[in-house]
Amino acid sequence: MKFQAVRGTKDILPIEARAWQKLEDIARRLFGVYGYSEIRTPVIEDTALFERSVGETTDIVEKEMYTFEDRGERKISLRPEETAPVVRAYLEAGLHKTQGFVKLYYIGPMFRAERPQAGRQRQFHQIGVEVIGSDSVYADAESLQLLMHILSETGLKKHSLVLNSLGCAKDREKLSQVLQKNLKTQEATLCEDCKRRISRNVFRVFDCKKDSCRAAVRKMPTMLEHLCNDCSAHFEALKKILDSKGVKYAVNPHLVRGLDYYTRTAFEVTHEGLGAQNAIGAGGRYDNLVEEFGGPKLGAIGFALGVERLLLALETEGVNIADKQRTALFIASIGEEACKKGFDLLAAVRKGGISADMDYENRSLKGQLRRASDLNVKFVAILGEDELKKNAVTLKDMDKGTQQEVNFSKLSEMLKNAADT
Ligand code: HAM
Repeated sequence: MKFQAVRGTKDILPIEARAWQKLEDIARRLFGVYGYSEIRTPVIEDTALFERSVGETTDIVEKEMYTFEDRGERKISLRPEETAPVVRAYLEAGLHKTQGFVKLYYIGPMFRAERPQAGRQRQFHQIGVEVIGSDSVYADAESLQLLMHILSETGLKKHSLVLNSLGCAKDREKLSQVLQKNLKTQEATLCEDCKRRISRNVFRVFDCKKDSCRAAVRKMPTMLEHLCNDCSAHFEALKKILDSKGVKYAVNPHLVRGLDYYTRTAFEVTHEGLGAQNAIGAGGRYDNLVEEFGGPKLGAIGFALGVERLLLALETEGVNIADKQRTALFIASIGEEACKKGFDLLAAVRKGGISADMDYENRSLKGQLRRASDLNVKFVAILGEDELKKNAVTLKDMDKGTQQEVNFSKLSEMLKNAADT
């Protein structure tokens, strides 16, 4: 029987994992620099958590969640995103009482049963942050700076930040009525889904990818024209800070997000090298979510980067962020006795924190040297009968092409010195 990875999921093989690690290292380092702490939440949550936050009429909740009955008791879903779980965890742990303001980050898998295609998977990974407990426009500016900082540290160049403001709940209510009225006049040109969206959740029409719907949307008034004074001042202040910090962006007044919890600032980072799925990251404010989950009224903002899409984007720019893994020492042993001694030396060298490896398969010296070269080692220690007699290895420096005899007792020290220089 032959098994294959489930449709829309992928194995991250060792050759790819280096780039993943490097990306995560960059992100973790910058999260430290910006003062964010890690949070890890379960992969499964109550389905209602996403229905109440992401929204019952969104594609994610309507069509894409992996939902099942938990032993016949209640409905559970694999998390399609991490904002709602983080807010749930924040309230459940009482962080609103003990800390109030928190800056959190996460790295992990999310699940959406979408039709798989390039840059769209059913299990994908996000690196994201959630800042909870602040209405300040500086919180918006900081998350955007952090997002753009991570991207620039990866070496990515051909990406752009698109910004909009979605206003507060009152603004949305007002615009929703205006849009319903306006879109009714265009109803004949809309797809069947969008016809239903007019009354169910009119903002979803803005998200439709069909040409005729997009044409209708272009004629519609935008949120920016309907912002109240406070929301408008917030958006203007954010743009000013970003300008002063040299963060480049474009405003797209038609930008909406596929999740319902957003208020005020909403943004996406797109990459020109990707096809239809060109968003490498996205986020925004969600000032009502904490309260909707039964907590106090607290402002919040966050973003999530899609790891697979970011790596694809880097690939299209020819940027390879993975460093080549390098093993310091390979011990090539000839004969049973030498193998035994080599195994002792291996443990001693590794104990000193130096990377080392050897062959246990009784291969020829030539075969072992080939393996050493595949591992890109710096030194090869040859251990045969002669060496055993002398209590020393023949140590070849593979970069310099030199060799010397090194006593067993001096091997670790010598490799450590070489690593330090
Ligand atoms: P989102 O726009 O749904 O936002 O997802 C964020 C990013 O995840 C996308 O820009 C994309 O790069 C990646 N992504 C989404 N779906 C897939 C998929 N099927 N395959 C591959 N990559 C995908 C959120 O999830 C919000 N929770 C972001 C946020 C955090 N807002 C506030 N805080």
